[in-house]
Amino acid sequence: MSTIDPLLTKALARKKVTTLTLRQKKEHGEPITMLTAYDYPTAMALDKAGIDAILVGDSLGMVVLGYDNTLPVTMEEMLHHSRAVARGAKTALLIGDMPFMSYQVSIEEALRNAGRFLQCGGMDAVKLEGGRERVGAICAITGAGIPVMGHLGLTPQSVHQFGGFRAQGKTAAAAKRLLEDALLLEEAGCFSIVLESVPGCLAELVSKKISIPTIGIGAGAGCDGQVLVTHDLLGLFDRFTPKFVKRYASFHSEMQRAFADYIEDVETKRFPAQEHALEMDEKEWKALLKEIQPVTD
Ligand code: KIV
Repeated sequence: MSTIDPLLTKALARKKVTTLTLRQKKEHGEPITMLTAYDYPTAMALDKAGIDAILVGDSLGMVVLGYDNTLPVTMEEMLHHSRAVARGAKTALLIGDMPFMSYQVSIEEALRNAGRFLQCGGMDAVKLEGGRERVGAICAITGAGIPVMGHLGLTPQSVHQFGGFRAQGKTAAAAKRLLEDALLLEEAGCFSIVLESVPGCLAELVSKKISIPTIGIGAGAGCDGQVLVTHDLLGLFDRFTPKFVKRYASFHSEMQRAFADYIEDVETKRFPAQEHALEMDEKEWKALLKEIQPVTD
């Protein structure tokens, strides 16, 4: 008898999450959950666990592809990973992160690349970084019917402009500018805004001032939802862990332990054991031996 996975049953019973669902959650004061995924099995596990939204983040560049920052990530890489995620998750709202230089050159390129995330990547929406300077691109993309999530605060594609991965919005002037940007993104048609590495009091103020949901990462508990990079949460990325991350597992050391056990098992011939081997029908085996026996007269 086959056993039914209760998480899968629950996931199948859930309705597809849309941008409207996130808006309603904000209106009802229900926290929105979002995590990143870059592959099929992770997307499937997130979906079964009941996550609201999955971001195929360009953090891919750091936590999966091993770059120092997100700048080298290309559209082709993002689409490749987006498709894998789309095959694994059927219920969560799927958001593709527009990589560096895919939306900054011209509004036309921004629109075309945003469209590719939906047409060739299986995504439901896109995310892009920046404030007032992105309003033109956001208006064009949302005008084509593509939902856009904004991203303010520490926007990692501007790491060199910031002089490192540094918290933002810490002075009164910077905080005022960020609040203005949030209002402009809302007006441009964004359905939600990520607030990254900004003081909690500022994130809470922005969340109260705009009607679209804010999703915080290192922005305190006053946002309408929370997002983390899944590899940080799982302890899969061991180069560094930002202060705002809560770790729920230590998969990197667990992987290392499993690999070391495997190596030892193979080297000491404990693996494969009898139960891992395939059997052959005795009659067939004998027939083979007879067949290959050297002919003697
Ligand atoms: O790329 C990413 O994972 C992100 C999140 C940190 C919001 O942009």
